[in-house]
Order: sequence, then C-alpha cells, then structure tokens
Amino acid sequence: MEYCENYWDNPELKRKFIRFLNDIHRVDLTSWNEMGYWDENYRPFSYFDNGKLVSNVCIYSMDMVVNGKFSRVAQVSAVGTDPGYRRRGLSKELTHKALRWAKPNHDFFFLFADDEAFRFYEKRGFRRVDEYVPRISVPGKKPGGVIRKLDMNREDHRDLVYRIASERSAVSNKLGVLNSRLFMFWCLNFLRNCIYHIPDEDILVLFSREDGLCRVYDVVGRQLPAFPEIYPSICDPGDRTVCFQFMTDKMAVGNCEFTRYSDNGTHLMGSFPLEKEHFIFPVTAQA
Ligand SMILES: CC(C)(COP(=O)(O)OP(=O)(O)OC[C@H]1O[C@@H](n2cnc3c(N)ncnc32)[C@H](O)[C@@H]1OP(=O)(O)O)[C@@H](O)C(=O)NCCC(=O)NCCS
Repeated sequence: MEYCENYWDNPELKRKFIRFLNDIHRVDLTSWNEMGYWDENYRPFSYFDNGKLVSNVCIYSMDMVVNGKFSRVAQVSAVGTDPGYRRRGLSKELTHKALRWAKPNHDFFFLFADDEAFRFYEKRGFRRVDEYVPRISVPGKKPGGVIRKLDMNREDHRDLVYRIASERSAVSNKLGVLNSRLFMFWCLNFLRNCIYHIPDEDILVLFSREDGLCRVYDVVGRQLPAFPEIYPSICDPGDRTVCFQFMTDKMAVGNCEFTRYSDNGTHLMGSFPLEKEHFIFPVTAQA
C-alpha cells in the first residue's frame, strides 16, 4: 500500500482521484478541473494499492467569516474506501493523518456525512449537529427590475460569475464562506440553472422556486443590498415563502422562522462559536 499526500501536480494521480470520487460519491469534478477552477486548498491524503486509489480523505482549507471574525477552517471531504478494502482501518489512518496535518492551522473542523458514516465520524471525535433553515413569508407579486439568467456554457458568463465571486464579501457575518473556486464548482454543477445577475447592483442571486417556495442559495457581490431591495427583481406572483440556505444577518429580512434541518449530516470538531444558535453553513460552503 502506497501513501500519497498533496499530489495535484501529478496529472495521473489527479485523474485517478477524480474517477475514485465519482465511483464512491457520484460527484464529478471533471468540468471543475477542465475549466480551470481546481483549488489547491483542497488537499488529498490517499492510499494506492498497485496504482489503484483505494482510500481517500481530503481537507478543504477554507476562508470563512465566523461570528464576525475571519477564520481559517477545515472541511473534511471526499472520504471513502473502495468496497473491497473496507474495515481494514484505512479511513481511520487517513483521517488521523489529515486531522494531524490540519490541526495547527485551522480554527475548527466540519463535515457533511452520509448516514452510514455517522458512527465512523463519532469514533473519530466528531459530534453531530442540526442546522436551521431561516424562512420568511412573502406576498407574491410581479417582478420588476432588470435581472438576467446566466448560462454556464458561455465563457463570458463564467468569467462574470468568477469575477464577482472573487470579489465577494461574505453573505453572512455570522457564517459566510469566501472560496470563489468552490463556488464555481456549485455553479458548474448543482446550481447551474439557478444563477442570475442583477446588473444595477452587480450581484449574483442564486435561487430556484417550486410550489410557492423560493429557495435562495446565495447572494454574491462586493457589497450586498438588503433582501427587500433584491426581492422585487426575483419575486413571482405565486410566492408564499422564501427560505435561505445561509444565515440572514446581513439581509435585513426581519423576524425569520426556522426549520430544523438534519439531512446534511453536519458534524463538528473543535470550538464552534455558534453552536447554541440557529446556524446553517452556506450551501456553497459544502465541498
Ligand atoms: C465510511 C467509510 C469511509 C469507512 O471506511 P473504512 O476504510 O472501511 O473504515 P475503517 O476500516 O478505517 O474503520 C475505522 C473505524 O470505523 C468503524 N466503521 C467503519 N465503517 C463503519 C460503518 N459503516 N458503521 C460503523 N462503524 C464503521 C470501524 O469499525 C472502525 O472502528 P474502530 O475505530 O473502533 O476500529 C467507508 O465505509 C465508505 O467509503 N463508505 C461509503 C462512502 C461514505 O459513506 N463516506 C463517508 C462520506 S460522508
């Protein structure tokens, strides 16, 4: 068994990693890589057996704003062992190496786990926490204001998205993420049909709607207007509720209701200042 760490400069190993992640987690990093948004802050710790990647853990080092302070935090990600190699202690060893590498320079650890891995992470010292999705009631109305849907197949639109993401301020001072490259992963994959530009403000609003519920995934810009200034551009006569996939302290939305959300399988390790509050990690912080 060969141990390798931090090997993105080796195209062959990187290609094996991309295939492994797709096999284990059904997440495809191909377009993210080919379009040039790969992030060196994403660090692999892997075992190879006869050249085959059989077990992996990544640490994504992230710049976040946490409770008003700039913080360097570590997300544990891309954890998996090939089915033929499970229960031999490989993930345990790799997690140990990854945490030991990251501990000195990161304020805390977090991760999003599948149900079947909860026991594994508890044994590694993580604790499971619930998140809370904020939501407000809205009167539906016709949209006004200029807004343009972006098409990630177009290079000029990708450049616009990346430029704004690179200049962004955190969506929340409570819990906001600043990694523009990880944001591009979301834009190229799960949120690619949800990206809108409001040119007057030069901001991106990522949202979708279904059955009267408008889901806002992120608001991205150098300066963020309050939500009541944004909503007229994105609203719909059928809207009843808006929910936010991030904390709304900068959005001036008034009193929110909160829905407890456990599906992310969120786990923490180390001191996390918001644990007693209704918090949610921005969805675009998930690696
Ligand atoms: C979860 C997973 C990564 C574990 O990998 P592994 O290499 O088999 O784990 P290890 O052999 O290092 O196990 C380490 C410890 O966790 C325990 N463990 C591993 N898988 C477990 C499971 N599914 N349920 C309960 N305990 C488990 C082992 O018994 C061992 O216990 P110990 O610390 O008391 O010795 C692997 O099963 C996997 O890839 N699953 C599919 C993808 C996945 O769920 N990844 C996590 C993503 S969030």
